[in-house]
Amino acid sequence: MNYPAYRDDLNLQRVKVAQATWQSEAELYPILKAALDMPPESWDRIERHSTQLISALRAEQRPPLIDRFLTEYGLSSDEGVQLMRLAEALSRTTDSETANQLIHDKIAGGNWLSHVGGGRGMIMNMSGRVLHLVGKWLQWSDRHSGDSIRPISSLGDSVVRQATRTAIRTLSSQFVFAETLSGAMKRAKGYQRDGYLFSFDMLGEAARTHDDAAKYYKAYNDALDIVALHAKSDDPRHNHGISVKLSALHPRYEYGHAARVVPEIAELLKPLALRARAANVQLTIDAEEAERLDISMDVLASLVAMPELKGWHGLGFVVQAYQRRALPLLRWLQEQSRQLGARLFIRLVKGAYWDSEIKRAQEMGLKSYPVYTRKDMTDLSYLACARTLLDHPDCFTPQFATHNASTIAAIQEMASKGMRVEFQRLFGMGQQLHDMILKGPNVISRVYAPVGTQRDLLSYLIRRLLENGANSSFVHKLVDHDTPISNLTQSPIEALQQEGDIENSSISAPRDIFGGVRQSAQGWDLSHPLVQQEFQSGLEKHSNINWSAAPVVDGTIAPGDSCPIQNPANLEDIVGHWTSADEATANSAMEAASNAFRTAPNLSPKERAEKLRKA
Ligand code: FAD
Ligand code: 2OP
Repeated sequence: MNYPAYRDDLNLQRVKVAQATWQSEAELYPILKAALDMPPESWDRIERHSTQLISALRAEQRPPLIDRFLTEYGLSSDEGVQLMRLAEALSRTTDSETANQLIHDKIAGGNWLSHVGGGRGMIMNMSGRVLHLVGKWLQWSDRHSGDSIRPISSLGDSVVRQATRTAIRTLSSQFVFAETLSGAMKRAKGYQRDGYLFSFDMLGEAARTHDDAAKYYKAYNDALDIVALHAKSDDPRHNHGISVKLSALHPRYEYGHAARVVPEIAELLKPLALRARAANVQLTIDAEEAERLDISMDVLASLVAMPELKGWHGLGFVVQAYQRRALPLLRWLQEQSRQLGARLFIRLVKGAYWDSEIKRAQEMGLKSYPVYTRKDMTDLSYLACARTLLDHPDCFTPQFATHNASTIAAIQEMASKGMRVEFQRLFGMGQQLHDMILKGPNVISRVYAPVGTQRDLLSYLIRRLLENGANSSFVHKLVDHDTPISNLTQSPIEALQQEGDIENSSISAPRDIFGGVRQSAQGWDLSHPLVQQEFQSGLEKHSNINWSAAPVVDGTIAPGDSCPIQNPANLEDIVGHWTSADEATANSAMEAASNAFRTAPNLSPKERAEKLRKA
């Protein structure tokens, strides 16, 4: 299969997607608002419905322990941040000594007693006190590390280490459905009785080696065998499905390697898709980092172009509403659906990589962020995308993945009466809310269920901890009874109007992170097709120039032997010539420099600056 080079494949909608990547949020706001086009009376109904849902959720006996724990130790408290760092690093720390140091570092200094009392309930109080005692123990043990009681101290360290590892494993297990797919199918039965369907995700992402990728690919293959066995309906909407992360399938799933990687991944997916088709099982491509969007579109387009997949209604793609490209992406997906001659499953999510997108844009000194900077803009984008999905039932089978009661209420308001709407939740999140909506008419709920071992969980776990620990997230605010319900039900448009500005002024532009002191260096995102195109045409413009480099002494090019310079990526390509300095040239350069050194102090600062600029 030939990989369609992006520039040959450049259709209008694809360009529009690319152009929206860093479009200003102020420009996008009216576009989203118009696409949503929600009348005021609808907002009133949404507010009433979501108030009912939230009141009912808060009235339930007590939120799950894990939700309370993650709210108590959220990312706005120092202790929450320390626990998060500990969870992140400990699972990658194999030797005991480093693990001890890590635990000391993260626990000994925390003010754990600030998480005790004030009506927090017995278990929260107990965990605060235990962490406090552990911290005290560690401080004591530090003070006595050179004493004769060292053996007791070592024994204590080992107990603390084991207990900490166990606690983190317990935390992780909240988000993993099962270790194997056959275990998952058994466990799923209980949920099926309550009306749930599943999309199984085999844990593992960002494969570093071909061996890793082969292991993850085998896991998907095996999983498909089992899911296919359990598929009872001839309509993939009513069977369990599989979610695939493309970064698990290839260690070079990067834009720079697209020409090689896209056909390879498409060929790997083809047999999976054919088996899924034969068994009426949906196969969905997860959305990962924004820099991978373009290449994941190429993979989808390759599948859509395969004659064997024409007319299949089981192919799925995830759209992240926090990306500024989300709406034009949906229009491109409409085109893909028409080419496929079938509906695409579109799972609409808000997006799980927000923190890393912000950080990457800052590190790279990009002109802007590929994601929105206010959560309300993401919420608005989500609803505008939902409207587009609902308005095109010929192209899409929408799947609304959210744990937010207001978002659910808004979608139910938008869906035409009597229409069956699928919502999705992650395993370990949003269960009470989805249990509640499943009791209503015309609702399907599907659980995204990660399957695998702790070894492959880390990145996924960190995203869940960030999501649950962020004080802006719905799940966090729901458990925090100090947050008024009206704060959770306000329409994003009203909230944005109250904010006054669309762009979040507390998040400076990527190049302005040093405040007024200086701008950071400008970077180029070479994973972006239009940036690549700009570079490519720049290269082509200069490709006929025969570059030459030679020593310049006192303003004059020195003579010498000229040698060819090869393009390291293509040794037959001679990009220019260089001349080395011989001894005589070096001597005359030294002489010119020492002459200039004598005269330089007599120059005015302006003259010196001019010389520097010229140099
Ligand atoms: P809310 O609390 O309403 O929204 C939280 C979200 O708002 C954050 O996750 C972030 O996206 C956004 N946000 C927060 N702060 C800001 C800010 N300052 N500016 C702009 N936006 C902000 N995610 C993926 O990326 N790829 C996937 O393939 C994927 N698959 C999923 C499958 C399922 C079934 C589910 C339920 C989720 C999936 N997710 C995926 C995760 C999903 O992105 C998060 O669970 C979701 O963002 C949480 O949204 P919410 O409506 O539940 O919560
Ligand atoms: C994630 O891996 C659920 O795909 C989403 O965070």
